[in-house]
Amino acid sequence: MDRRKVCVLMVLWAVAHLSFPGYGLRALRQDANGVPLRRSKRGWMWNQFFLLEEYTGTDMQYVGKLHSDGDRGDGSVRYVLTGEGAGTLFKIDEKSGDIHATKRLDREEKAYYILHAKAVNQFTNEALEGESEFIIKIHDINDNEPRFTKDPYMASVPEMSDVGTSVIQVTAIDADDATYGNSARVVYSILEGQPYFSVDPETGLIKTALPGMDREVKEHYQVVIQAKDMAGQMGGLSGTTTVSITLSDVNDNPPRFTKTLYEFRVPESNELGSSVGAIRAMDADIGPNAEMDYRIIGSDGPGMFDVTTNRSTQEGVILLRKPLDFEKKRQYSLRIQVENSHINPHFYSSGPFRDEATIKIVVEDVDEPPLFERASYIMEVKEDAARNTIVGSVSASDPDDKRSPVRYTIDRRTDMDRVFNIHAGNGSVFTLRDLDREESAWHNISVIATEFNNPRLMSRVPVYIRVLDVNDNAPTFATNYETFVCENAKANQRIQTVSATDPDEPLGGHRFTFSLAPEAAGKANFSVRDNKDNTAWILTRRSSYNSLQKSVYHVPVVISDGEYPMQSSTSTLTIRVCTCDREGNMKLCNPEALTARVGLSTGALVAILLCVIILLIIVVLFAALRRQRKKEPLIISKEDVRDNVVSYNDEGGGEEDTQAFDIGTLRNPEAIEDSKQRRDIIPETFYPPVRRPVLPPSRDNNGDVRDFINQRLQENDSDPTAPPYDSLATYAYEGNGSVAESLSSLESVTTEGDQDYNYLSEWGPRFKKLADMYGGDDSDRDS
Ligand SMILES: *[C@@H]1O[C@H](CO)[C@@H](O)[C@H](O)[C@H]1NC(C)=O
Ligand SMILES: *[C@@H]1O[C@H](CO)[C@@H](O)[C@H](O)[C@H]1NC(C)=O
Ligand SMILES: *[C@@H]1O[C@H](CO)[C@@H](O)[C@H](O)[C@H]1NC(C)=O
Ligand SMILES: *[C@@H]1O[C@H](CO)[C@@H](O)[C@H](O)[C@H]1NC(C)=O
Repeated sequence: MDRRKVCVLMVLWAVAHLSFPGYGLRALRQDANGVPLRRSKRGWMWNQFFLLEEYTGTDMQYVGKLHSDGDRGDGSVRYVLTGEGAGTLFKIDEKSGDIHATKRLDREEKAYYILHAKAVNQFTNEALEGESEFIIKIHDINDNEPRFTKDPYMASVPEMSDVGTSVIQVTAIDADDATYGNSARVVYSILEGQPYFSVDPETGLIKTALPGMDREVKEHYQVVIQAKDMAGQMGGLSGTTTVSITLSDVNDNPPRFTKTLYEFRVPESNELGSSVGAIRAMDADIGPNAEMDYRIIGSDGPGMFDVTTNRSTQEGVILLRKPLDFEKKRQYSLRIQVENSHINPHFYSSGPFRDEATIKIVVEDVDEPPLFERASYIMEVKEDAARNTIVGSVSASDPDDKRSPVRYTIDRRTDMDRVFNIHAGNGSVFTLRDLDREESAWHNISVIATEFNNPRLMSRVPVYIRVLDVNDNAPTFATNYETFVCENAKANQRIQTVSATDPDEPLGGHRFTFSLAPEAAGKANFSVRDNKDNTAWILTRRSSYNSLQKSVYHVPVVISDGEYPMQSSTSTLTIRVCTCDREGNMKLCNPEALTARVGLSTGALVAILLCVIILLIIVVLFAALRRQRKKEPLIISKEDVRDNVVSYNDEGGGEEDTQAFDIGTLRNPEAIEDSKQRRDIIPETFYPPVRRPVLPPSRDNNGDVRDFINQRLQENDSDPTAPPYDSLATYAYEGNGSVAESLSSLESVTTEGDQDYNYLSEWGPRFKKLADMYGGDDSDRDS
């Protein structure tokens, strides 16, 4: 800005009490008298005013004076002030141009104000000067104390650190103007924490000040640091902070056993891997620096014990690695060394970081159960061994010094059937029963040994008894063979291959031999060929078999094993005779042969026989009853019969009447055919007379019957009194007698004979021709 144009004289009002060094009081006074501003060595700007903050005077604080060249002092010039705080914070005397501050100002709130000044003609309002900008700067005074960025500070430093080791830097901040004066110039000092720590006055860096600080002696320190402004001089403001300093651990202490001799007592029954005892070395350090390793460096029972460290307790745990035996060694001595796991080489030179101790282990006696000589026993016995045969022996003894005698028993749960027993005194196992290898090839039992004096002490051992095979079974056919021979078979034709089984198990496998039974060899119709591979062929011996002649052949085959003692058996092969086609495929077999093949057992035959006998008894009883009833009229009361039925006396065939129990029908196929028609009812079908064979002429009485019937028919047909509807007339006819001599001769009874004893029914006109011999003795039961 042009200095000539801006005709505002900047006047700096010297403030008498300003105490800043290098601030020329004389010059300020001169300035106050209107002398043009001189540049000061602090580099003030020429268009600046300065004002002290925090002014506490009662009158308004004078800032400075505006003056225009055009102001002749005649009162025609008016000064105008605009900008920040104009009119409120800052007031101008319009006439004189004096500026005053109306209030107390705080530099820390606002450090400077920008304002504009104008000089105008009071009357014309004409601007005498152009508007010009100037600044009112607030001068700092030390009104803020230093403040630490943290309170408290936390820090740690390794114990035994060298003097001057940095711990932490603290910082205090002063809000006052750092660019002006010493109001913001902070100096650090230590109020508490000497002589251990020191602080750098300029930087606030805290360092160790004492050599050999030991965490094990004192771990925590409270250090108080003061920060003071005005460069630490009197009158400056100050603030403090606390620094918590912890000494961190370093491994500066070796582990130490608290005793030189430890003693443990261990029962000899202790299990392998169990703890015998624990030892603990002390270490003043903490954490990893107190971790230690134990090891055995000497032992009079090598490999018997082991030592490991329990990482959570740092104890050395002594473990049993081999079984103890009071009877063999009663005391052990170990030399144990302990050493820190992480050794600090810095301190290692000061001495060994390890320690040693002796451990005495005393083995205590325990009453132990008997011990078997072996973990298990295998015994063998032949299956034909007699009872009370000794199979083998077990042996157990008391390991204790007392050598208590031992009793043996068999665990009955493993020998429920009491096949074996054991001699309680000497452990010999013997059989109680007969053995059968084919039933049970192994008997796996458990033998218990108990101390005679203390039965609670027991131990058991498995005994595997194998039953050895003896050839005590004869071979038989492997299956039930179903064999047939074709009628058109040729000689030497194979009709069946047979094989055999034997429950015995000879060492080299079975070697069966097959042969025809000697008693059948003479007129044999089949031959047996041993194939020497435990099979045999059944061959025809001649050609053409006739089922009518003989429908079933029974071929006895002798099978023997080659063992000692030799066992053999005769198995019978049943061969049916069948008709076959040309290829030899079975077409038809004799039914009798079929039954035979099915093999009616004697039981079934007896049952059939019984049935026949019962049937016979029924027949006899029935016949007897009939004889009693014979003379009774067929119909006793007339009301019982329909009017158109003419009743004739019935005279049954007596014992000759076998219609009711015709056993012949059971056997004779023809009889079966006949019996298809029920004899007790009139068939509804019309049978032409030709179907029935006319009565054989050999019988005289048949002619009589025909004549008799024809005569009766004639009479009925020609009877004018006959009813108009069909009616039934019954005629009684008595035959000449029985053809059969007695009931027992069943074979003589034939259906033909039936006709002899029938009384005939005659039907009405429509059924005249049905003069057949239906009805018979059975009908009187129904009528
Ligand atoms: C270590 O000792 C503690 C206390 O006796 C125990 O609870 C812990 O099971 C032990 N640890 C090992 C690994 O033996
Ligand atoms: C055990 O005693 C029985 C009966 O006195 C005897 O037969 C057997 O041979 C003995 N066993 C042993 C191994 O001495
Ligand atoms: C008995 O033991 C033998 C040999 O260990 C084994 O082969 C057999 O299967 C066992 N028998 C039974 C019934 O457990
Ligand atoms: C052989 O067959 C004949 C005639 O078929 C018979 O008489 C004879 O008893 C049979 N021989 C044997 C041993 O069955």
